[in-house]
Amino acid sequence: MEVFELARRQEISYHEKLYTEHKLFESGTWLAKPVKVVVETFDLLDAGSKNVLDLGCGVGRNSIPIAQKLQAQGGNIYCVDLLQTAIEVLNQNAQKYDVQDLIVPIVADAEHYKIPELTFDYIISCSCLEHVSSESAFETVVRRLQAGTRAKGFNCILMSTEVMEQDLVTGEETAGVIELNLNTQHAIRLLQELYQDWEILIMRHLPQEMTEIKYGRNIKFKSNWLTFVANKS
Ligand SMILES: C[S@@+](CC[C@H](N)C(=O)[O-])C[C@H]1O[C@@H](n2cnc3c(N)ncnc32)[C@H](O)[C@@H]1O
Repeated sequence: MEVFELARRQEISYHEKLYTEHKLFESGTWLAKPVKVVVETFDLLDAGSKNVLDLGCGVGRNSIPIAQKLQAQGGNIYCVDLLQTAIEVLNQNAQKYDVQDLIVPIVADAEHYKIPELTFDYIISCSCLEHVSSESAFETVVRRLQAGTRAKGFNCILMSTEVMEQDLVTGEETAGVIELNLNTQHAIRLLQELYQDWEILIMRHLPQEMTEIKYGRNIKFKSNWLTFVANKS
């Protein structure tokens, strides 16, 4: 099986299981709270009605808190995810937190979703762009994010790069099974080139590790977590 197909299958089955077994904001899971930089970047926007896009939104870890903020000032948040299950649970969460009127739920592959031009004040892509099929697809999606952003708007991209898997019994390290496994420095150069006309506010990366049982083996996943925020002039 091609790496892309295998990675996509694993991505789907992992999230289907997680979203049916765990609740949004459940402690002890990564769904426990929104990503700090995502919320802080929203707070950089000036007051007034705003449109937001959350690409690869999952069940609303970031979208629901942003929708709650939009409630006070007006606007909408478009929430796009590949998985029907994610969008169904997102809709339930939107009802639960009483923000259903602000959320526009969309089941779509980020790679093929045509972002409406000059529509959004803020675009979030958290753990999504490493799941497109190639570097050129990555560039195409980033250009769509940029074209979809209004003047003075922000893009916030968070993604895993240089994903490795280490077998904890043999110590053997292999490239991680993920759709797009970019070298960290290469991803940084790509973003710097693509955003050369924007002001780059944050560009940082941190190593991260987690242990899981996969294919019946104890595996340690290692990656560099890239955080990128830019402002359009
Ligand atoms: C690790 S989760 C993060 C969810 C959310 N961004 C958050 O921070 O809570 C990654 C999400 O991206 C979605 N996803 C993966 N590949 C995608 C793609 N090609 N297009 C749209 N969504 C995708 C998955 O279904 C999953 O819900």
